[in-house]
Amino acid sequence: MSQDRQWNVLLGATGSVASIKLPMIVDELNKKPGINVKVVPTAASYFFFKDAKVNATIHTDEEEWSMWKKKTDPVLHIELRKWADIMVIAPLDANTLAKIANGICDNLLTSILRAWDTNRPVLVCPAMNTNMWVHPFTSKHLSVLEDTFDFKIVAPISKTLACGDTGVGAMAEPETIAARVFELLVEEDRVRNEDIISPDERELA
Ligand SMILES: Cc1cc2nc3c(=O)[nH]c(=O)nc-3n(C[C@H](O)[C@H](O)[C@H](O)COP(=O)(O)O)c2cc1C
Repeated sequence: MSQDRQWNVLLGATGSVASIKLPMIVDELNKKPGINVKVVPTAASYFFFKDAKVNATIHTDEEEWSMWKKKTDPVLHIELRKWADIMVIAPLDANTLAKIANGICDNLLTSILRAWDTNRPVLVCPAMNTNMWVHPFTSKHLSVLEDTFDFKIVAPISKTLACGDTGVGAMAEPETIAARVFELLVEEDRVRNEDIISPDERELA
């Protein structure tokens, strides 16, 4: 892997209380070599970390609309989709999970995903109350993302949740998420390089 290799990570975040850890996910990603991060929170997610220091540019729904004035202006959800090598949604709440499994695109984050280049990886990190996690809708929606679109999932962990219940549903730790993002990017490069090396060249390598 080249020392100069740069990857653009678009970090979406949705309205789980686990959004308070968004600044920590950014910091963990920033520790990895060659990673550039931009953040796209939903309005509900931003509520949880709006007063925190985030070491990345934040793009909101308001910006999507305010930057477009005339036909020749760039459209933010398309620009961000072009910029990104990977999209990560951490945390992914039950509401946005249901929306993306059904193709709904009513905000910046879901519009980016609906316009996504499906050859690029997407990683989602669900976070919700245990009852929401075991609800049949959750596995149904996650299987659409996994089986139809090959999204990768970092499963939630078990602990006492913010609501006081104990069980599975808490977002995975920021270190775990950042490590998985980096692993996916390196793996993606390896597969692409294999694609451009002919079988004969591979034998010689
Ligand atoms: C304090 C608080 C904590 C919440 N935590 C979660 C959560 O962990 N997971 C979840 O799926 N929804 C959670 N919600 C509900 C979502 O915020 C709500 O469904 C919202 O409409 C999600 O919008 P979004 O998907 O556009 O971000 C929480 C709501 C509140 C008020």
